[in-house]
Amino acid sequence: MQEIIRDIDILSQKATDKPQAVAKVNPLAPRRLVYIESYGCQMNFSDSEIVTSILQKEGFAVTDDYQAADLILINTCSIREKAEQTVRNRLQHFNGVKKRNPGALVGVLGCMAERLKEKLLEEEKIVDLVAGPDAYRDLPGLIQEADEGHKAVNTILSKEETYADINPVRLHSNGVTAFISIMRGCDNMCSFCVVPFTRGRERSRDPHSIVAEARELFDKGYREVTLLGQNVDSYKWSPDPALKAKKDIEKVPDAKTVNFAQLLEMVAQVSPQLRVRFSTSHPKDMTDEVLHVMQRYDNICKYIHLPAQSGNSRILQMMNRTYDRAWYMQRIDRIREILGEECGISSDMIAGFCSETEEEHRDTLSLMDYVQYDFSYMFMYSERPGTLAARQYRDDIPVEVKKRRLNEIIAKQQEHSLLRNQQCIGKTYEVLIEGPSKRSDAYLQGRNSANKVVVFPAGNHKPGEYVQVKIKDCTAATLTGEVIEQI
Ligand code: SAH
Ligand code: SF4
Ligand code: F3S
Repeated sequence: MQEIIRDIDILSQKATDKPQAVAKVNPLAPRRLVYIESYGCQMNFSDSEIVTSILQKEGFAVTDDYQAADLILINTCSIREKAEQTVRNRLQHFNGVKKRNPGALVGVLGCMAERLKEKLLEEEKIVDLVAGPDAYRDLPGLIQEADEGHKAVNTILSKEETYADINPVRLHSNGVTAFISIMRGCDNMCSFCVVPFTRGRERSRDPHSIVAEARELFDKGYREVTLLGQNVDSYKWSPDPALKAKKDIEKVPDAKTVNFAQLLEMVAQVSPQLRVRFSTSHPKDMTDEVLHVMQRYDNICKYIHLPAQSGNSRILQMMNRTYDRAWYMQRIDRIREILGEECGISSDMIAGFCSETEEEHRDTLSLMDYVQYDFSYMFMYSERPGTLAARQYRDDIPVEVKKRRLNEIIAKQQEHSLLRNQQCIGKTYEVLIEGPSKRSDAYLQGRNSANKVVVFPAGNHKPGEYVQVKIKDCTAATLTGEVIEQI
């Protein structure tokens, strides 16, 4: 049993040999084991680290083995129907576990918890506890309720909660790269998207707590942080607690606010040895000021995830993205002007949105030709209950057509990924080593500034080191090369 208990205190000390602040847990109390499984975006994975921190203070230890767990948590995603189906299947599976271990509790966290609320307790009879994304501080109380056999549900959304004071317990960490959540929620109302309903209003986290987290990670040996938010460009924080909502801050012009460009600079100044990335940028909000800050700091990675969703202006308007094709192309032009051809650019694309014609679909393909993305996440449109699109439009593109369009988008992206990688052959890049390559321990892998995965013979190099790698070959997914040893 011992080896499957990943004691969180011990684990976090592995990255560094320095002593850590350890939560005060009664050593004589029997420790309960929690197993946590996460789905969806990086913000959800980041939230699981906050949840683990909260539970650790309650005396829980993390286990990798759900059969042995006293508490099984699934941190869920609602973005597409398939994401929810995966979770339902997983819950059915955990039903078997509960039969063998009737004392165990099963809890649903995250976006599906928020969307379905107490319905989850009724629909999925195995669920004992439901906690939405802003209710994690209440988990100890909810667990107690569930232990006593009561319905335990908290899906109240908050306008303030940012978990700024909670030090996340890094789960499944490589000890080199980490994510820092800088804001929560989303105030955009893209018509296809469930996130504003599941995550609530946008709120920005205190920049000083963000910088402190980055510094602590650096001191523990981490060398890269990714600042996370659904729309990082609209980050805005004011020291005046009376001005909570972003709109209130904007009404007071002389309030000492911190915007995203300023935050990025503050984090970049932690150390030139700490790489800074961020995700996601929204085309309507990405400013030249951010691009200039990126240009000024070598340690801010030259990579921008700038989801277009579609290349057609009528569809973009129906999606309520509030920019059109020309605006998007102009943003791409500015990236190229300020940061050059080497800057990595990636996108999210949706195939077969309501009423999309063949010609409008071809606009997406032609936008891809214009940008030549390094990478894209590509999806078929999936109608989500309660969204603007579900209420206003018919999901009228047959699934075979959606599939065919998606395949065309994927084929185009493959072509561009390969082309962009081929342009790297013969060049030398600084690579931050993250760990052994997927195929063999004789090789290491890391990424260059533009977020491209680079694989090379290990030699005597170690994760966390920066090396110069000369690129010899590539596939659409990976660059391969050799370290140029420095004299
Ligand atoms: N905040 C980010 C997106 C977060 S959701 C942004 O604005 O870009 C991640 C991606 O999922 C979206 O960019 C979109 O491409 C996709 N997505 C969201 N809702 C979807 C839906 N109903 N059907 C298909 N894809 C969807
Ligand atoms: Fe969803 Fe749009 Fe917000 Fe992104 S910006 S999370 S797509 S509503
Ligand atoms: Fe999914 Fe919620 Fe993220 S719906 S994509 S987990 S914000």
